[in-house]
Amino acid sequence: MEVIIEQDYEQMSKAAARVVVRTLNEKPNAVLGMATGSTPLGLYQELVRLHREEGLDFSRVTTFNLDEYVGLSVTHPQSYHHFMYENFFQHVNIARQNIYIPSGTTSNYRSFCEWYEQRIEELGGIDLQILGIGSDGHIAFNEPTSSLSSRTRLKTLARQTIEDNARFFETADDVPVYAITMGVGTIMEADRIVLLANGAKKADAVAAAVEGPVTSMITASALQMHPRVKLFVDADAAGELQMRDYYQWILKNKPGAPPS
Ligand code: PGA
Repeated sequence: MEVIIEQDYEQMSKAAARVVVRTLNEKPNAVLGMATGSTPLGLYQELVRLHREEGLDFSRVTTFNLDEYVGLSVTHPQSYHHFMYENFFQHVNIARQNIYIPSGTTSNYRSFCEWYEQRIEELGGIDLQILGIGSDGHIAFNEPTSSLSSRTRLKTLARQTIEDNARFFETADDVPVYAITMGVGTIMEADRIVLLANGAKKADAVAAAVEGPVTSMITASALQMHPRVKLFVDADAAGELQMRDYYQWILKNKPGAPPS
């Protein structure tokens, strides 16, 4: 895993946006894996700015979102459908039919999940997956002890996640208990992955994911087994990393890095 420590949230978001730009330059019809939550907001804002000011083109891009709450309609203000349109899709030139987000209201979850996996495969797989990390070390809604080879499925949320996400709802009781989520195995098939984390609240999860053992207790730790992961963290989220100096050294001495 390549660990890139940026000084603050804005720098972290811009650095991640540069990876998206490089991906779209190489492959204008790339398939992007999208994440929700507060972490990627700055990345989306930067991509919207690049679209408006520099013509970054999403017209041939396809997206697959990681997850959705079960029971929330697409118009519910806390649904991830709503989040994605409000914060990203309605501000760029992506084609509506190229947007895939798990359904929170399907009548048949099992067949929906199978179809979702199949669509990803039919479109050639995800070229670049964006991820956040939960304070319990989850990626998407793959809570502790989720199988590291899990696929898209219905998942019960951990109490910790419900508490973490209660800030977006009136009370913790309003947070749905179930979600549809891509599995760890689904995520691991992405060609490249960008993991983002900011703030001291994520420092323990980040350290466990990067420097701890690979374990289903911290599903983000599975990313240690993926050959092309870039982790962008701000200084606070990097606070518990033991090998900080080493990561800086590696970056500075990367083959092709400009001499300093
Ligand atoms: P957050 O959530 O970005 O709102 O902190 C991240 C996650 O749970 O994956």
